[in-house]
Amino acid sequence: MTSNLNEFLTTRKQTIEDYLFTYVQELTIPKDLKSSMLYSLKAGGKRLRPVLVLALLNAYGKNEEDGIPVGCAVEMIHTYSLIHDDLPCMDDDDLRRGKPTNHKVYGEATAVLAGDALLTESFRLITSQLSSSVSADKKLRIVDELVKSAGALGMVGGQFDDMEAEQKQVSLAELEYIHARKTGKLLTFSVAAGAMLAGASDDDIEKLREFSYHIGIAFQIRDDILDLEGSEEKIGKRVGSDTANEKSTYPSLLTLSGAKEKLDEHITRAKEIVSNLQLEQQLLHGLCDLIASRDH
Ligand code: IPE
Ligand code: IPE
Ligand code: MG
Ligand code: MG
Ligand code: MG
Repeated sequence: MTSNLNEFLTTRKQTIEDYLFTYVQELTIPKDLKSSMLYSLKAGGKRLRPVLVLALLNAYGKNEEDGIPVGCAVEMIHTYSLIHDDLPCMDDDDLRRGKPTNHKVYGEATAVLAGDALLTESFRLITSQLSSSVSADKKLRIVDELVKSAGALGMVGGQFDDMEAEQKQVSLAELEYIHARKTGKLLTFSVAAGAMLAGASDDDIEKLREFSYHIGIAFQIRDDILDLEGSEEKIGKRVGSDTANEKSTYPSLLTLSGAKEKLDEHITRAKEIVSNLQLEQQLLHGLCDLIASRDH
């Protein structure tokens, strides 16, 4: 399976990147704004969120084609969230995806606007780039899901509470709520949108939301662990950023080994949920293992 998973990851990453770079390259927008947007998009990244959209379609045995613009939309939002997350007024980081952060190269004002542009343009990928076989109703449902996942109810709200929790002791429940939104919600979008495009039942979509909740928290716990014990070269961002900013993280609350136990619990639960669904298991189980053990 590992080789199948690796092949899936490599080929889909390429498909997504080709589409995404061409789409942004062809926009008629100010030259330096475009450079700044493309700089962060092209800097690297695992493309996990778009890969998840395609993985859901694949697991249901459906054509992955319509997952491409939807996957690119969530990758644009994710990239915007990273540009803003790195700003001096937020985490104040100077390295991202192995390169200087956007504001270090283009200045803060352009970095803010590149983020704004990536956010807003992402919606047009869904409204204008999906094939006519996807009903207007379904497109609207996907847009609604994206608004709830990316906005104040989701990632932005989580980022706000994450910032407020600096230099404070928060409870485990509060920390889980933060992780579930700042990181989990965009992953939920990918899973739910992929399932919607695949024509999954509402019941399946609900169970998959629960699955994505667990992988979302697991993903951010792993991110917190990598901030402590990862290699700067591999993760492409500075280690120790959370400690420097006195962030509330799983390791800071539970110790490193406690955080690792929690991570395993969430991954185990996520796999159980998938095992009870009528879809191809292997790919999604493989992605769970990848989230648990990733080194970047
Ligand atoms: C980093 O996300 C920020 C978090 C939500 C933890 P990724 O680890 O997916 O970053 P890229 O896209 O691969 O750079
Ligand atoms: C924030 O988490 C994730 C976002 C929503 C951007 P982090 O602040 O831990 O992300 P990294 O470690 O800088 O990638
Ligand atoms: Mg942050
Ligand atoms: Mg950060
Ligand atoms: Mg982090």
